Amino acid sequence: MTAALLLVQPLWAENSDPGENLYKSRCDMCHQLPDPEMLTAGQWKIVLQTMQKRMGHIEMPPLSLGERQKILTYLSKHARRR
Ligand code: HEC
Repeated sequence: MTAALLLVQPLWAENSDPGENLYKSRCDMCHQLPDPEMLTAGQWKIVLQTMQKRMGHIEMPPLSLGERQKILTYLSKHARRR
């Protein structure tokens, strides 16, 4: 029973967060992916705005509001607590 749970859980847990996939596909174009634990949720919110502007500078399609929200949700979940 326990063994089955251990095997099954990581399979469906993986990729279950749309924000994580977006983060990994949209945030590694100009630099390596930063560790979500590097900043607090409040700091991530500001960084996302800065990166949005940087994407504009190289004429990369900007994140939609929904995409930004999903990425922020993912980052906040794994962010530094304080
Ligand atoms: C258009 C290119 C570009 C994209 C795409 C991009 N960044 Fe950045 N990012 C930069 C540049 C330029 C810097 C500053 C120089 C450096 O650290 O390489 C930077 C630096 C950072 C830093 C360090 C703090 C700072 O402001 O210097 C963080 C954290 C960061 N980016 C997060 C992200 C996240 C999260 C995403 C996805 C939403 C993202 N970046 C997407 C260009 C980009």
